[in-house]
Amino acid sequence: MSAPRRKLFVTTALPYANGPFHIGHIMEYIQADIWVRFQRMQDHAVHFVGADDTHGAPIMLKAEAEGVTPQQLVARIAATRKKHLDGFHIRFDHWHSTDSPENVELSQDIYRKLKAQGLIYAKPVEQFYDPVKAMFLPDRYIKGTCPKCGTKDQYGDACENCSSTYAPTDLVDPYSTLTGAKPELRKSEHLFFRLSDPAIVAFLRGWTKQPAPGQTLQPEVLNKIHEWLGDADGADKLTDWDISRDAPYFGIPIPDEPGKYFYVWLDAPVGYLASLKSYFDSGKAKAYGEQRPFAEFLSAPDTEQFHFIGKDIVYFHTLFWPAMLKFAGAPYKVPTNVFVHGFLTALGEKMSKSRGTGISPDYYLDLGLDPEWLRYYIAAKLNDRVEDIDFNPDDFVARVNSDLIGKYVNIASRLIAIIDREFDGQLAAEPFGRFYSAKFGPLEPQEKEPREWTIGEEDRAAANCLAAILGLNREIFGAYQQREFGKAMRSIMFLADQINEYVDQARPWVLARDPERRIELQRICSFGISAFKILSAYLKPVLPALAERVEMMLQIAPMSWNDTRTILASSHKIQRYKHLMSRIDPKQIDALIEGPKIAATKPSPVAPPAAFDSAATPAPAVPTISIDDFGKLDLRIGRIVNAEQVDGADKLLKLTLDIGEGRNRTVFAGIKSAYLPEDLIGRLTPMVANLAPRKMKFGLSEGMVLAASGEGPGIFLLAPDAGALPGMRVK
Ligand code: 2FM
Ligand code: ZN
Repeated sequence: MSAPRRKLFVTTALPYANGPFHIGHIMEYIQADIWVRFQRMQDHAVHFVGADDTHGAPIMLKAEAEGVTPQQLVARIAATRKKHLDGFHIRFDHWHSTDSPENVELSQDIYRKLKAQGLIYAKPVEQFYDPVKAMFLPDRYIKGTCPKCGTKDQYGDACENCSSTYAPTDLVDPYSTLTGAKPELRKSEHLFFRLSDPAIVAFLRGWTKQPAPGQTLQPEVLNKIHEWLGDADGADKLTDWDISRDAPYFGIPIPDEPGKYFYVWLDAPVGYLASLKSYFDSGKAKAYGEQRPFAEFLSAPDTEQFHFIGKDIVYFHTLFWPAMLKFAGAPYKVPTNVFVHGFLTALGEKMSKSRGTGISPDYYLDLGLDPEWLRYYIAAKLNDRVEDIDFNPDDFVARVNSDLIGKYVNIASRLIAIIDREFDGQLAAEPFGRFYSAKFGPLEPQEKEPREWTIGEEDRAAANCLAAILGLNREIFGAYQQREFGKAMRSIMFLADQINEYVDQARPWVLARDPERRIELQRICSFGISAFKILSAYLKPVLPALAERVEMMLQIAPMSWNDTRTILASSHKIQRYKHLMSRIDPKQIDALIEGPKIAATKPSPVAPPAAFDSAATPAPAVPTISIDDFGKLDLRIGRIVNAEQVDGADKLLKLTLDIGEGRNRTVFAGIKSAYLPEDLIGRLTPMVANLAPRKMKFGLSEGMVLAASGEGPGIFLLAPDAGALPGMRVK
């Protein structure tokens, strides 16, 4: 029985329409897109929409400065979106605008409903006014002298010199940054949303604890909300929200309030619904079998509504937005959950145009870099926490070249060539011999096919490999579901290692020389290619274009999640190996980093709420070192020319290494529990060549080989990619 199809409505934060996407937007969209594709692979109906966030004073003023209308500015920026979305394989179903009839209708409707509930009231507000420009000034357009330390040209909220904070009205000699005029304090009536209403506070306490059955907010988000909401008796911690702005303002007129507009942050999230409405009205939702009109879909109890956002806009999405939706009532429904991510940094620093640490998505695409490299890298770094993730060029190159190409693509390139050459592309008629009983528990609800696996009893290695692949199925499923993409990628690469090891041991290239062993050869390659297909299905949410190339090459239908549990059919015919993905040339990344940059900082019409503190991220256990410290290490590639047991030693093997210096070195390595000496002979491995020789009980050790180990069992010797030679320096 297949699981009931879920109906999901998914959004990402709407980008301000005064500038093109920066890499932070792209990261968020990639995160959401991966999740959406994962849901779609299970045949759930997902409606994934975005829109431009168009309103507010900054866009109005920028348009004015350029001598165009705000609509023209918005249209110009909107025209740049497609290149980036298509370029990074981000597949929204619909892209709309908050400056749209749907948004006017819905924002005004929500407002009227809140007003009818008695949750809107008017109150005079005293604010700075620019008499030359004839407009009230948002705080960011006011500067003056710090009232504390006397530093000139400080913004209205805080002093850059002495860090004190204050109100704009506290500034000495304030001036408008728009005209230089001295602002006047003027009063005007503003409209407020009564967020402090006890019914709203009570609702928010409940919603934030459990937004929907089975859903919780991330712990870091919840902590922040606790600060904002206070304890049960701290209802007055929430202040009412000023939702109106006076003309001139680029925004949506407030019904029955001439000259007043909604503050941009009121109509921005309504833009999610406006985009969904426009998408439904255009008939596009029918592609997913959705026949109901917008309002019916939105209000249906089984429609799930998820918002992906950055950590700077949590306040709006977990307090204002659910409260607006809840108290406006049907057809509006509160979000099912809000998924918050951290920022993208470069080499540990906030990206900044002036410091030259930004990465431009535009330039990435113009350089012809493969978008799926970035998708993979971002996936490999993401988890379900509100942590910043760091772009590190060396790490980027290493992960793509050694994981994606060196491990995953490598499986296909080795085996498909043999099947093509030796068997004209035909897989084994009985690939895996006898029935292999699957001990992997009951079927997942979404599984369609029974888990029958046939593995030749003689091929225990294949059976073990398959057991590993299936054994991680739930874990990988759960990791995707939880947005623990890094965990999913680690599991998938672990499996790629297992499959490569299976192939290494089976040595099909040796069997290929023996005419007597053709059946075995065909079976081994068929198994390996099936295993590769499973990994491709696992990776499909992250690498959709690569997955399409694999589907074509393997001559199979578009893979669904069921493909993570099924092998290729007996005697199935595949195409010859075609190039799947290139390695990164590190020079390309140098060009990316040195190329044109754009700022990664977002213009924001409000001061963002206090940032998440980084205490949530555990500090690295080892203090950082300088590049000079690192340079003191002489790391060399060595070939293990001999390896032997050491009499009387529990943990040590004696290795003889050639590091290209015309003589061999002896190293005693504590890897006996993990390796048989004969398996090591011939292998390349990096070693520390300038470690002072150490006299040990068994002899002199002249260096150290490098191996990884974790909390669990296992020691894993490092190995360079093909092409490395003894004596090469590792740096
Ligand atoms: O912070 C921003 O970039 C806003 N434009 C996000 C708006 S999200 C939603 F509310 F529209
Ligand atoms: Zn100061």
